[in-house]
Amino acid sequence: MRLMQLVYASRPFGFDELTLTDILLVARRLNKRDAITGSLICREDLYLQMLEGPRAAVTDTYARISRDARHTEVVVLWAGDTTDRLFGDWEMRDDRAQSWMWTREEVSRGAVAEASAQEIRDVFVRLAREPYEQPRYDLKF
Ligand SMILES: Cc1cc2nc3c(=O)[nH]c(=O)nc-3n(C[C@H](O)[C@H](O)[C@H](O)COP(=O)(O)O)c2cc1C
Repeated sequence: MRLMQLVYASRPFGFDELTLTDILLVARRLNKRDAITGSLICREDLYLQMLEGPRAAVTDTYARISRDARHTEVVVLWAGDTTDRLFGDWEMRDDRAQSWMWTREEVSRGAVAEASAQEIRDVFVRLAREPYEQPRYDLKF
């Protein structure tokens, strides 16, 4: 079956554990309905999400997400066809941004937006191979 993967980055607005819990609860319910899987990388300075599934479902979901007031500066970094899901077991995996990704300084300099499509995809390929660890959100305000 032909599938589409789409990755966007955005800047969280009002990032806290309650907000994330709510986002993930709704995301997983709707993604299950829509045959979407993926991963949401999050930190107080960054959301980086991969959506994968049937093309129409991915574009509809992205359209809803891009209008969401809980983040700003939403930009698509990569979109393309694929035959294999990276996160087939996950209605939406939640991953904390990790040290091998980008530092806060790099994010604030715009490094994520400037990364190549290949670099972006490689982050998710590597992440999909790593064991899932329940994120602990050390929230700083
Ligand atoms: C960072 C972030 C990630 C989200 N991920 C998803 C998702 O994977 N699937 C989804 O259906 N909604 C996701 N949402 C929620 C949507 O923005 C939206 O609230 C939800 O789909 C319900 O749509 P509605 O508000 O138009 O009823 C996400 C929101 C944010 C802020």
